[in-house]
Amino acid sequence: MTDTTTPPVSAPASKADRVIIFDTTLRDGEQCPGASMTFEEKLEVAALLDEMGVDVIEAGFPIASIGDFESVAEIARRTKNATIAGLSRAALNDIDRCAEAVKHARRGRIHTFLSTSPVHMKYKLQKEPEQVLEMIVASVTRARNHVDDVEWSSEDGTRTEIDFLCRCVEAAIKAGATTINIPDTVGYTTPSEYERLFRTVIERVPNSDKAVFSVHCHDDLGMAVANSLAGLAGGARQIECTINGIGERAGNAALEEIVMAINTRADVLPYATGIDATMLTRASKLVSAVTSFPVQYNKAIVGRNAFAHESGIHQDGMLKHTQTYEIMTPESVGVSKTSLVMGKHSGRAAFRDKLKTMGYELGENALNDAFARFKDLADRKKVVYDEDIEALVDQGIAAAHDRIKLISLSVIAGTRGPQRATMKMSVDGEVKTEEAEGNGPVDATFNAIKALVPHNVKLDLYQVHAVTEGTDAQAEVSVRLEENGKAVTARAADPDTLVASAQAYITALNKLQMKRQTLNAQSAAG
Ligand code: KIV
Ligand code: ZN
Repeated sequence: MTDTTTPPVSAPASKADRVIIFDTTLRDGEQCPGASMTFEEKLEVAALLDEMGVDVIEAGFPIASIGDFESVAEIARRTKNATIAGLSRAALNDIDRCAEAVKHARRGRIHTFLSTSPVHMKYKLQKEPEQVLEMIVASVTRARNHVDDVEWSSEDGTRTEIDFLCRCVEAAIKAGATTINIPDTVGYTTPSEYERLFRTVIERVPNSDKAVFSVHCHDDLGMAVANSLAGLAGGARQIECTINGIGERAGNAALEEIVMAINTRADVLPYATGIDATMLTRASKLVSAVTSFPVQYNKAIVGRNAFAHESGIHQDGMLKHTQTYEIMTPESVGVSKTSLVMGKHSGRAAFRDKLKTMGYELGENALNDAFARFKDLADRKKVVYDEDIEALVDQGIAAAHDRIKLISLSVIAGTRGPQRATMKMSVDGEVKTEEAEGNGPVDATFNAIKALVPHNVKLDLYQVHAVTEGTDAQAEVSVRLEENGKAVTARAADPDTLVASAQAYITALNKLQMKRQTLNAQSAAG
């Protein structure tokens, strides 16, 4: 039973075993439908992960595209502390390409993987187990010819037959793998089973002491974090995870949940990480902004309700003693107490100061741009909250490299249709104006965009919610567009719902444009 008189623990246990935090937001996270990030966005996320204390950043899958290769290489060049990993399949040219991308890193890692479960070997690889073993040895040996730090993953490890898994792990370590990852690729395992798996492999594989064992869990049954922590109990010392738990299908284990579970329950989880937990909220917001994936309101640690106490009984308890309903403080994960901030009389210095306390360090141009948009917002909205400032800064970050920009929009709406939108836009520096009608003001606005930038995409999702409270609250609009099976999501906020709708749609078009360019560059390169 926990000692309830002890204050919530937000510092790692001092003598605890150090766990390596391997973040794969830029690889497994970016791989999920609609979460693609631009080159600049990836660099920004990597810089924040490095500053936050992530030990290993999996920056991408270099063979997947020229864009992926270039972002891994640039992140490798720029990162100050973290090891930079690139993913590669077992093919030798994949591994060579990965080595080429991570070679500029202070510490570079090649992460190579191969399926080992009966179902994957038979249907996906169409190979016999002995052939798979040979491929493991060949791929790890090739990777070790390039770098000293090689990770090998047994894809679909949790559905692999245990004797064969042990043979594969032993062979990978013998060939030079320094980290062995046993992923729960399909999110199928349970905590006790996963713990037992690590215990068994580590006990049975004779050279297991020569490698660090790693967990990598997907959340298909909602157990990714619990499974990851159970893997530690079984002997693993590296956790692969993503910010906000983004990733294939139901996602990966969420980094912020793992770190805070370890920090808050040091009594039963005797581990330590190098993560500065006060940066978790900022990291969550950045990843949400660049991927346009909203964070679920009740998401553990970083959801907007994670520290909100609504019911009378809870509020009463909180006023008497915060520990009645709070197991960790909002400040420990970087949520600042003040939410009422500034108004139209606030100056540039105060604005810069405010951004700093919120964790944003903008360059001079970005600051000027954000300040101009803040002034514009403060003119239209009585009270500007932290959340409003975050929305406008994130929007600025996302829009910095856009080809299509909204200049102005006016809409005639009301009971007597058809509604009519007049829009002015800059497209590749050329200013154009169009008018369009529609079945409602949003439809008229989107039709005006189509008239200015003719395109043929499917609007998959259109969603509106308020960033803060009140009738002058900023509306946050999310849209998802789909073109030839490729989906992008974008978000924008403005006190005017129609302006937010136009901005979100235009941001999504810019993202699609970026995707097309990458694909064209790839096919031109053969
Ligand atoms: O889920 C998985 O198996 C993976 C591997 C490539 C590590 O992401
Ligand atoms: Zn995965």
